[in-house]
Amino acid sequence: MSLTRRSALIGACLLAASACSTGTSSLSAAPKTVLVVGATGRTGTPVVNQLLADGYKVQVLVRDPAKARATLGEQVTYFTGDVTDPASLAPAMQGADAVISAIGAKGKDGPSRPEVIDYQGVRNLANAASAAGVKQFVLVSSRAVTQKDHPLNRMFGDVLIWKLKGEDALRASGVPYTIIRPGGLGNGEPGKNTFVIEQGDKVTGQTTIARADVATVCVQALKYPEALNRTFELNTVPGSPMTDWRARFAELKPDPSP
Ligand SMILES: NC(=O)c1ccc[n+]([C@@H]2O[C@H](COP(=O)([O-])OP(=O)(O)OC[C@H]3O[C@@H](n4cnc5c(N)ncnc54)[C@H](OP(=O)(O)O)[C@@H]3O)[C@@H](O)[C@H]2O)c1
Repeated sequence: MSLTRRSALIGACLLAASACSTGTSSLSAAPKTVLVVGATGRTGTPVVNQLLADGYKVQVLVRDPAKARATLGEQVTYFTGDVTDPASLAPAMQGADAVISAIGAKGKDGPSRPEVIDYQGVRNLANAASAAGVKQFVLVSSRAVTQKDHPLNRMFGDVLIWKLKGEDALRASGVPYTIIRPGGLGNGEPGKNTFVIEQGDKVTGQTTIARADVATVCVQALKYPEALNRTFELNTVPGSPMTDWRARFAELKPDPSP
């Protein structure tokens, strides 16, 4: 492990430990500041709302602040930027302890195709986070990114292949990270089901999870150093909501060093 990566990891562990020393981050004396990218999206918006509810300071990187204000209100700090424009990312990273990205491509070709958003955009964010000394980067990726023959690749411009390249760019950046690979996203209410967390990307067939439940896991991942440098698949099944996040994250294998 490089020195930079090791000191960033130690910093992230200290932060996570102090944030949850009282059991919940909302009671922490110095709330963490989190930059949310994709905050106007259907997963990003519940991420912002859950962060605010838990007492974090939130800054967002958005393409259209006027449109974003209508959804996100005045409790967040706005930075105008675009993940395809690396120079626009640095100001938003300043002061951020952590980044949560829920960006996603629009369409299978054109300027917002998967290659540009899910790979180059994530890579640009990871590089900017590294340059700014961000201590944790939580990425919403997707289940099946390692399944090259998955039909979604044929349907949506190799979206899963590009998402895996985005994940790899984050792993290589040296920023401590948590990569969450949800199954099929829905817009149901959060907290109604139990989480299934797996590794190895072996699951085939339909899996589902509400976007707001994905948001819950993004926020929980900030609170426990056990979530650092882990990649895992995520879906929900009927059952009681999970309570012991630390124990569940601790069961996961860390990724091999890139
Ligand atoms: N659909 C599924 O079943 C499924 C399954 C697994 C994983 N996922 C992944 O989960 C993630 C979240 O999905 P979602 O449906 O919640 O996303 P979404 O509602 O489509 O939101 C996408 C967000 O990305 C932002 N964005 C796009 N291009 C950008 C750019 N160039 N610069 C800055 N921001 C940009 C959008 O901002 P604007 O408001 O400016 O457009 C929006 O806030 C995505 O990565 C998606 O691929 C989806």
